[in-house]
Amino acid sequence: MITVQHVSKHYGRHTAVHDVTFHVRKGDVLAFLGPNGAGKTTTMRILACFMPPSDGTAHVAGFDCLEQPMEVKRRLGYLPETPPLYQELTVNEYLTFVGRLKGITPSRVPSRKAQVIEQVGLGPVHHRVIGHLSKGYRQRVGLAQALIHDPPVLILDEPTVGLDPNQIREIRSLIKSLSGSHTIILSTHVLPEATAICTRVMIIHQGRIVAEDSPERLSSRVRQSEKLSLTVKQPSADWLDRLGTLPGILNVFPTAQPDTCTIECQLGQDLRDDLSRFVVSQGYGLLELTPLSLSLEDVFLYLTQREEFSEGSPTAPAQVTPSRADERAAT
Ligand SMILES: Nc1ncnc2c1ncn2[C@@H]1O[C@H](COP(=O)(O)OP(=O)(O)OP(=O)(O)O)[C@@H](O)[C@H]1O
Ligand SMILES: [Mg+2]
Repeated sequence: MITVQHVSKHYGRHTAVHDVTFHVRKGDVLAFLGPNGAGKTTTMRILACFMPPSDGTAHVAGFDCLEQPMEVKRRLGYLPETPPLYQELTVNEYLTFVGRLKGITPSRVPSRKAQVIEQVGLGPVHHRVIGHLSKGYRQRVGLAQALIHDPPVLILDEPTVGLDPNQIREIRSLIKSLSGSHTIILSTHVLPEATAICTRVMIIHQGRIVAEDSPERLSSRVRQSEKLSLTVKQPSADWLDRLGTLPGILNVFPTAQPDTCTIECQLGQDLRDDLSRFVVSQGYGLLELTPLSLSLEDVFLYLTQREEFSEGSPTAPAQVTPSRADERAAT
């Protein structure tokens, strides 16, 4: 549905996007993740026909963003970083204006408007002037203008920025409900958002793609060993040393809680059965035994802090322990 081939964008002598190639299949939700200035917005603006690439080609629904921008725009809803709102219009007036601008026939505008107002939760403020709305509601108006012509492709630049936790939950579930029937690219700095709603994640760093995969597979690419969190009742003073003697265990890390530790074993090994039997045989009570996985945050930090990492590189970190996931589990 979206094909980007060898796209670069230069601003003067500065290269914001460098030889980027990727595809998004119909129904996929792809997250652009990257630090500030990585090139996310630039790539989205090229796809939304807001500016041409310096090199390469971008296609949406089979149409060239440079050669056939009107065809692309008909099929694409774009929420820019700063939504293009007319502050002096009411939400109703603005959506009527945008609906007409996007080619919806006058007779269909009211029903489409009512539908998007319902979808993004603008009901309570639809009669109000946009300039008087809170940031969260203005963001919703931005989403409504992207959705009003019911495009099959959505490009959403940080769609949940500025929303409160309840609104974030609602907008995420809206995006999730649109997935499958729509092809969506969104950018975000909120990593749990990518894990929660995206089928694929693309990590961009300094204008280059450093990784692209499902959130789960990205985690396992960076992971070198299995980790478990173990909590017992009434352990002996030397319980960590005793655990370390069990076959298959690579490391035992203490945590802030004296009755909890993090256990590291080889990738692909599941020691839960052995561990539970061992704990019981030692006379400790077994309170919790949980596998730990690397969070997307760990993966993101790892990939964007290692300049030599490149897509497909077999190199994994020599030391990712103790991981942030472990630290979180331990606190
Ligand atoms: N119009 C412009 N003129 C010159 N440089 C620009 C322009 N727009 C963006 N840049 C530069 O291009 C690079 C990529 O910017 P871009 O806005 O795409 O990053 P981003 O990944 O969206 O960042 P953020 O997370 O902060 O939104 C940055 O170094 C930025 O300063
Ligand atoms: Mg941006």
